[in-house]
Amino acid sequence: MDNKKILFSGVQPSGSFNIAGYIGAISQWVKMQEKYRCVFSIVDYHAITVKQDPQTLRQQIKEMVKIYLAAGIDPNKSIIFQQSSVSAHTELAWILNCCGARMADLNKMTQFKDKVGANQESASVGLFDYPVLMAADILLYSTDLVPVGEDQKQHVELARDIAKRINNQFGDLFVVPQAVIKEEGARIMSLLNPDNKMSKSDPNQNNSIALLDNIDLAKKKIMKAVTDSGTEIVYDKEEKPAIANLLTIYAQLGNREIPRLVKDYKGKGYGDFKKDLAEVVAKFLNDFQDKYNKISEKEVENVLREGARRAEKIAKSKLDEIKKAIGVK
Ligand code: TYM
Repeated sequence: MDNKKILFSGVQPSGSFNIAGYIGAISQWVKMQEKYRCVFSIVDYHAITVKQDPQTLRQQIKEMVKIYLAAGIDPNKSIIFQQSSVSAHTELAWILNCCGARMADLNKMTQFKDKVGANQESASVGLFDYPVLMAADILLYSTDLVPVGEDQKQHVELARDIAKRINNQFGDLFVVPQAVIKEEGARIMSLLNPDNKMSKSDPNQNNSIALLDNIDLAKKKIMKAVTDSGTEIVYDKEEKPAIANLLTIYAQLGNREIPRLVKDYKGKGYGDFKKDLAEVVAKFLNDFQDKYNKISEKEVENVLREGARRAEKIAKSKLDEIKKAIGVK
């Protein structure tokens, strides 16, 4: 065993995966593969916390594998697996529900509140408990680092709290994980309303650009994106949130530095800027989709089979250790 740190992260196979999740999460995973031992999950049991059509879900699980591969996650270096194929995740979630997590923790979770709004009574119990399953995902692999977008920070904090509580009671069972959040791009905002984050569950698809969007459509979405008052291209999140967001997308997908972009666009208007950004997005999507389309169903199956085998091995031995510690084994 080498002494590389362990990294775990995951994405739900729900909705159309968009550039926000790519920028906030997956793009950093790719770079981290060299340095860490990485485990990347397609978290289908998280996806079913809200209603899913079975046929679509099956399709989206495979799509997510292809997205991981096309983005540059290498199955020879990293473990890629489907969460539901390793039953230790739900088993540990139950143990954490009983031995570590408290109602008060979950009552604080802002994502649950944002998601259910006024419909709390009809939300599934799973949606409320979702952060505990996420803690189980992370803790099972003795994870040191969890690279995520900003919206997941509170959930990783909860995983830390649960780990510390259980360690206090049962001895040093868990590594206390740490969130890794990008300085720029950890919170990409909606194209039509820069006060809201870009989200794959947004019913208005013009707010986001999916990685598998038709390229002309994606360009149109950029051209229709809202801008701020004034005319200057400056990076000011408070005063010019729409342009700041578009600059972030430009920098992230075009591999550019924001201060450099601001210099280059001095004296130019929003129209020119958006036209160029539309081209940057188009090129990025084109390259990405080229790679995506070359991945076969067979390859997806192989990756999932091998990933499940490798993940299961690690997860099962950790779960056994925990079962012994709490007295059920
Ligand atoms: P999910 O599927 O909602 O999102 C996947 C990743 O994309 C990031 N993200 C964003 N980043 C920047 N700007 C945005 N607007 C934006 N929207 C989404 C998310 O922060 C996330 O990193 N609960 C998790 C999945 C999960 C997980 C885990 C993650 C389950 N178990 C264990 C890490 C470790 C989720 O629903 O992500």
